[in-house]
Amino acid sequence: MRDLLITDLAEIATPLGTTSRRGRDQGAVSKVRDGEILCRDGRILFVGTRAEREATLGELPDAERLDGRRGTAVPGFVDAHTHLPWAGSREMEFAQRLAGRSYEEIAAAGGGILSTVRSTRGASRDELVAAMLPRLERMLACGTTTAEAKSGYGLSLPDELRQLEAIRAVARLQPVELVPTLLAAHEVPAEHRADRERYLREVCEEIIPSVAAAGLARFCDVFCEQGVFSAAESRRVLAAGSAHGLLPRLHADEFADSGGAALAAELGAWSADHLMAVSEPGIEALAAAGVTALLLPGTSFFLRKKAWAPARRMVEAGVPVALATDCNPGSSNTESLPCIAQLAVFELGLTIEEVLTAVTLNAAASLALGEEIGSLEPGKRADVLVLDAPNLLHLAYHYGVNPVRSVVKAGREIYRAGNLLLAHRD
Ligand code: NIG
Ligand code: FE
Repeated sequence: MRDLLITDLAEIATPLGTTSRRGRDQGAVSKVRDGEILCRDGRILFVGTRAEREATLGELPDAERLDGRRGTAVPGFVDAHTHLPWAGSREMEFAQRLAGRSYEEIAAAGGGILSTVRSTRGASRDELVAAMLPRLERMLACGTTTAEAKSGYGLSLPDELRQLEAIRAVARLQPVELVPTLLAAHEVPAEHRADRERYLREVCEEIIPSVAAAGLARFCDVFCEQGVFSAAESRRVLAAGSAHGLLPRLHADEFADSGGAALAAELGAWSADHLMAVSEPGIEALAAAGVTALLLPGTSFFLRKKAWAPARRMVEAGVPVALATDCNPGSSNTESLPCIAQLAVFELGLTIEEVLTAVTLNAAASLALGEEIGSLEPGKRADVLVLDAPNLLHLAYHYGVNPVRSVVKAGREIYRAGNLLLAHRD
């Protein structure tokens, strides 16, 4: 494989390190003007100015060149919370919400997650793969080079297994790296509504052991929420996951303070996600335990909630903050991390530097991948984006558009926007 030299970058912006950044460090992003990046054997070999490269590495006549055209390079985005393998659509519920019904009301009437469970149970593994491929293509075009993907629309052993098998299959068909998470405790399925204890036992005693034995998931998640799974039930699920080698992360305090943040802190979870309704003691517990708050402002926006997770307060309290799309058909139908980054600047009040760390290093660290990806530094995997932007601030300043011009994955350019225009010009 030839070396790849990314040249003529107006700016290179990246967090530094292999672990999550918090407090003041969350916004301490390194910026290099007039930079270049050299990739060798899929890894980053050099990041610096052109003058430094010439002085240390020489002319590099054999390297393939990618002309940065005065753009900005950032690490490949990491989307650490998605519900990617679903079938069907919930646009009718969306229409109802636009007419004034709430997400919770629709769910209580048998819609919501259970509606997607019905359509996903009716889909074969190959149909789920086919449904995921265009989503992954849109993710890649928006700069996502690694994504977490949850099951959770199966809610039975064969249906959860099929979703996870579809994730494994689609991971081999396209370049976005996928990290699978078992979310069998996303809801109590309709057939177990009269006996939730029975479903909890099925999750802990059958689904978790089978999924772990098949090596189909790295993480175990649970929807810890008023009316879904209590903190005590969530603790049981995550303990069973841990006993089988699945790392804990959880949906916590999305709509009501349900003790999710405290539970995440108690367990040392890899992330506590949503946190729209987190309490002050919950924030303090996350900070003390160093648990990453994985915020999903797309849900506040898409569900038209007035509530936004208290992101500024969390940064100030020393909680590492990450951001993700929550890509799913019910509460956040988007694959775009640039869109989430813009919401985070406009609605969560984070700085663009804090946001960059949130969608790269902190997201990677929450997936236990901080040693490998999430920053542009020698030794890390060469997952690099070139943005059509003269500096990082344009990621929010030029809003509502996709700024990604090139995606480099493991040292190879695998996506380029604007090909039509370039061909026309030649
Ligand atoms: O993260 N909160 C629970 N799960 C998803 C919603 C999934 C759905 O509505 O289908 C979420 O928002
Ligand atoms: Fe979610």
